[in-house]
Amino acid sequence: MTQQETTDDTRAVANIGVVGMAVMGSNLARNLASREGNTVAIFNRSYEKTQTVLDEHPEAEFAPAHGYEEFAASLTKPRTAIIMVQAGRGTDAVIDELTRVFEPGDIIVDGGNALFTDTIRREKAVRETGINFVGAGISGGEEGALKGPSIMPGGSAEAWETLGPILKSIAAVAEGEPCVTHVGTDGAGHFVKMIHNGIEYVDMQLIGEAYDLIRRGTGKTPAEIADIFAEWNRGELESYLIEITAEVLRQSDSASGRPLVDVILDAAGAKGTGAWTVQTALDLGIPVSGIAEAVFARSLSSKPAQRAGASDLPGPSEQVSVDDQDAFVEDVRRALYASKIIAYSQGFDAIVAGAEQYGWDIKKGDIAKIWRGGCIIRAQFLNRITDAYAEDPGLVALILAPYFREAIEGAQDAWRRVIVHAVEAGIPTPAFSSSLAYYDGLRADRLPAALIQGQRDYFGAHTYKRIDKPGTFHTLWSGDRTEIEATDAH
Ligand code: 6PG
Repeated sequence: MTQQETTDDTRAVANIGVVGMAVMGSNLARNLASREGNTVAIFNRSYEKTQTVLDEHPEAEFAPAHGYEEFAASLTKPRTAIIMVQAGRGTDAVIDELTRVFEPGDIIVDGGNALFTDTIRREKAVRETGINFVGAGISGGEEGALKGPSIMPGGSAEAWETLGPILKSIAAVAEGEPCVTHVGTDGAGHFVKMIHNGIEYVDMQLIGEAYDLIRRGTGKTPAEIADIFAEWNRGELESYLIEITAEVLRQSDSASGRPLVDVILDAAGAKGTGAWTVQTALDLGIPVSGIAEAVFARSLSSKPAQRAGASDLPGPSEQVSVDDQDAFVEDVRRALYASKIIAYSQGFDAIVAGAEQYGWDIKKGDIAKIWRGGCIIRAQFLNRITDAYAEDPGLVALILAPYFREAIEGAQDAWRRVIVHAVEAGIPTPAFSSSLAYYDGLRADRLPAALIQGQRDYFGAHTYKRIDKPGTFHTLWSGDRTEIEATDAH
């Protein structure tokens, strides 16, 4: 930056800036501009987009910039800018430009869906310049960005001091509280946003399976099933995703008059955050089986050649029917609720493990709180999660909290019946089934893991421990099969 630009304070009119004027960026900038006292510097690589935003929203207090120098000069200090560009290489390029024109003490926020390890790397590099770097997960899609998202910022406590009030002013509000909290240092915010997305994947998959079960089990039309979801949305399943499911199912295609859901190609896309969650959980050794099944189910749906080839493979030889449709629908509702509890329990396990691995002090109850509004997985039942961690901060698994324990107890017979029906009818329910398998695995008195340890010891002398005495043991499988105490674990 030139001397002229750094000292020309008359141009510093904006208290916050946004880089990237695609839909998410422009909506966030409009949200910021709509709050009392904010003037928002806006910048886009091509000025055309900035001009469109200005033309379409003359009411907003924007300070448009043609270049990074002008953008920096238009910001009051400490300069604060939120990057809203597609995650990846573009983000690095913008960070490079901003660090060039910003000064120590200024704050760069990445509001995209960045991989948290990239955020850790970027934070470290930017910190060397004296500038603060904050990776902030922002959830809620286009509407959330405009009207109030759920925001998950990481970064330093120093940056949070300046950023906190600004983010609180634009976040969604749930039960009087803004849906934003300082999640933890460096990549903590993007880590938690990633887990949010993983839960989003399994939530959507579970809802999809519930719809499929009801449709194929009862023959109800999408519009009739829309009514069921609308009804469910008035009970313990109340959530944004259930609400929009009813809307999607009720929609008919204007061209053909058919239910829209029947004309949409059944191949689900994915931008990768679900896969990141699973890859990360694998590294952390945390079973997020529901999320994994949800990611794989999308992959399976998007394999047209294999699906076409397999479409004439035989299904069950006997037809199974649902005798009592209302009872079946209620069973599905309960199964959905139980599976959803498992999904969140697994997601929070991953948060706990991530926090431990990366040294973040993440308050689980606060995360549940900021997910109550604005974000895609917002749901009434997140209050129960906050309560559970408030009652017992050391809770080793969410499903062990009294409320969830009872909820699963009340649902589990239905859960099992639904999965039995799915298996007999040949309806794929990977998320429902894996959730139940996880539940049964966790509560099992003895697991076949003992046999696996025996096998590992047999072929690789990997040793095992015993239930009745301390130490590490190995059986001489190829010798006389006596057991010896092994000193070194292999
Ligand atoms: C949100 C969403 C948002 C988006 C993701 C997931 O919290 O607002 O999670 O980030 O929908 O891109 O999309 P995919 O389903 O394409 O992975």
